[in-house]
Amino acid sequence: MKNLIVGQSGGPTAAINSSLAGVIKAGVDSEKIGKVYGMVNGILGMLDRQIVDLDNLGNDGAKVELLQKSPASYLGSCRYKMPEMDESVYKKVFEILEEYNIGYFFYIGGNDSMDTAAKLSKYAKEHDKDIKFVGVSKTIDNDLPEMDHTPGFGSAAKYIAATVREVATDASVYATKSVEIIEVMGRDAGWLAGSSALAGEGGLGPDLIYLPEKPFDLEQFYSDIAEKFKVKNHVLIVISEGIRTADGKYICDAVASLTVDAFGHKQMGGTGKILENLVKEKMGVKVRSIELNTPQRCASHILSKTDIEESFNVGYTAVEEALSGKTGVVIAIKRVSNNPYQVTYEAVDVTKVANVARTVPDDYINESGNFVTDKFIEYILPLVEGEIYPEYENGVPKFLILGAE
Ligand code: F6P
Repeated sequence: MKNLIVGQSGGPTAAINSSLAGVIKAGVDSEKIGKVYGMVNGILGMLDRQIVDLDNLGNDGAKVELLQKSPASYLGSCRYKMPEMDESVYKKVFEILEEYNIGYFFYIGGNDSMDTAAKLSKYAKEHDKDIKFVGVSKTIDNDLPEMDHTPGFGSAAKYIAATVREVATDASVYATKSVEIIEVMGRDAGWLAGSSALAGEGGLGPDLIYLPEKPFDLEQFYSDIAEKFKVKNHVLIVISEGIRTADGKYICDAVASLTVDAFGHKQMGGTGKILENLVKEKMGVKVRSIELNTPQRCASHILSKTDIEESFNVGYTAVEEALSGKTGVVIAIKRVSNNPYQVTYEAVDVTKVANVARTVPDDYINESGNFVTDKFIEYILPLVEGEIYPEYENGVPKFLILGAE
């Protein structure tokens, strides 16, 4: 009987552990699988033989449930790009997989992590290795192609919409003119920025939303704010960290020392602060910027029930698909209907997902490029539906932490 190994990779989400729980649970449920292992810090940790036994966790229902509601990557993560040429790394990976008698390999991640799954399954096919490689989709950015949405997005969107709604109440308490700029994640796509519209237009929600899909023009930005000032004193703006000018230059490029990861992506952030200073100088009003930063992807106190349940199902389905013989695939959520909201889970070719970013379609963004349309709202509403609450201990959420159980 062959064993299973699972790893997490890339930026974490509040739901990535629910997918991990799905893989582990399906692994212990199956009579065709021997042991269930986890790689610590993804493929990079596995290369260093950092492998843990997950059987006990999988057989403890309370722990599986707690894992589902624990944010960030329980097994740790990495941003490691498998080399194109250096065969020694592949040899080492397969040597370790054979040493642990692995027949099923699952990698939970976004477009970069699917690059790893794609390369390993290709190598296995070319070298006649009988190991199934299945990707488990995730990313708060919601930018994976071939699927309706990604696990992790719904919870991040719910946090963003709720936070923007709360900030809106605070932003309007003084009778003086002010601008509040909220920066959210989303390197290449504006799904997260757009989700802020759920907070409610105008009054309790953003007045303006800027996404990376549309070129950002500073003069137009000033004029959009001035227009809003004609009818209200407080202008609430949501921007994506990835907004860029028509020539492709990120606004946050102006921040010195942007570090670059193994996939060549710059570490974003700081766009809100840059715009805060510019608007302050240009308009002479009170301006505040808020970078939501990592809380938007690890907020366990405002999870989307839909997201947590779907994330688990994506992980569970990955194991079922591998057991049925699939390899070189990634599990994608497909929407069957909106009313009632129904989805299915399908295995799609991982090479179609690796390294590709799915952006927000044109008809989801308004003509002025400074807000989203009703179509966007219709699309996103079911994804944030339902609440699932953390367990509490000493007044704060309780999590499952590797090595501290
Ligand atoms: O995984 C997606 C993401 O959360 C992006 O929205 C963000 O730009 C990036 O990860 C940040 O990654 P890291 O935590 O590695 O800096």
